[in-house]
Amino acid sequence: MKSIQVGLLGAGTVGSGTFKVLQRNQEEIKRRAGRGIEITMVADLDTARAREVAGEGVKVVADAREVIANPDIDIVIELIGGYGIARQLVLEAIAAGKHVVTANKALLAVHGTEIFAAAHAKGVMVAFEAAVAGGIPIIKALREGLTANSIQWLAGIINGTTNFILSEMRDKGLDFATVLKEAQRLGYAEADPTFDIEGVDAAHKVTLMSAIAFGIPVQFDKAHVEGITKLAAQDIKYAEQLGYRIKLLGVTKRTAQGIELRVHPSLVPSKRLLANVEGAMNAVVVHGDAVGTTLYYGKGAGSEPTASAVIADLVDITRLHTADAAHRVPHLAFHPDAMSDLKVLPMAEVVTSYYLRLRVADQAGVLAKVTGLLATAGISIDAVLQREADEVGGEGSTQTDLIILTHDAREGTVDDVLAELQALPTVLEPIVRIRKEELK
Ligand code: HSE
Repeated sequence: MKSIQVGLLGAGTVGSGTFKVLQRNQEEIKRRAGRGIEITMVADLDTARAREVAGEGVKVVADAREVIANPDIDIVIELIGGYGIARQLVLEAIAAGKHVVTANKALLAVHGTEIFAAAHAKGVMVAFEAAVAGGIPIIKALREGLTANSIQWLAGIINGTTNFILSEMRDKGLDFATVLKEAQRLGYAEADPTFDIEGVDAAHKVTLMSAIAFGIPVQFDKAHVEGITKLAAQDIKYAEQLGYRIKLLGVTKRTAQGIELRVHPSLVPSKRLLANVEGAMNAVVVHGDAVGTTLYYGKGAGSEPTASAVIADLVDITRLHTADAAHRVPHLAFHPDAMSDLKVLPMAEVVTSYYLRLRVADQAGVLAKVTGLLATAGISIDAVLQREADEVGGEGSTQTDLIILTHDAREGTVDDVLAELQALPTVLEPIVRIRKEELK
């Protein structure tokens, strides 16, 4: 049978990996897919780069629309990124009746509803395994492998750049800015790493996983997004002394009130596997009611790991493209007419536990006052650590750090009590609040 014809938009790192892996493993891939898969056309503004990536025998063009307009192309791979031209091209490819494979989490997290509706109406597939956690087949696991389950929650380290930075901060006791510079020098972090360090990239990914896990529309605008730029080396050290590591987690959880959808630094017990995911690696823990807790670990970025996910999607489409559209796996795991209207909770309604650090005057009654206000608010304390004043502020210091771990509390209640604590004359600096996930 004739090979399925693929057009590639964007001949960068992942595109190059996709060519290499398709070439290297072509025989095995063909045996799995039932027919060959061939990239026959590549579009990139940098045609010299595209030519180098594609090699001989592949048509190289500067204009992506030439690929979309080619009637021989069955599948379009979008590896351009961003919400601008990529959105236009994906919608045009769908309108032209092409199946689409994309690694573009930003595009789908923000415009997913529009794109999946267009694909559904046209009867084409939009596959996006590479958009979340690179080479880890987490979309496949959530959408198919765990389909028997009522998924309760998932939590993931889904941004390699920030995990690398946090690992280095902990290992070397360095501050954020120093490690970021090192990460950029080593090529881990982009020259403009804003989406990574501010938690936006992780929020795109957890938004997609949340939609698939719970059958809700993609709602990036409802996600709580907090990055790691304000994390101090000191808090990483204190957390360690209390038996925790700090990770940037994407968390989504089903509760009686609605869905939690959030990205922020979190204390994770050091003994959990997730706490031991170091460097640029990714991992996702998913808890289903039947299966219990499952863990997925691997490379979340890079040329061939991401190509591995792109090609898995190409194989899926090759197997299914002649099937009746109604018999394919729905884009978001649940049939479009059976989506849930469970609301995404505002952060004030989220219930979790907390690490609080207060720089206080080292005076009689300060601890009692602080714990008294927490008790009045109904917030139960799990552990307290008070540093020696000399250790915190040097010899003769009259200030100290008070570190408190709480049991579960409603975020809105914590916000209120933190405002009261901050107003105390004996609380000398802005209070540090980091959420804590026990992941039991
Ligand atoms: N910038 C991402 C990361 C990789 O650091 O994990 C692509 O999603």
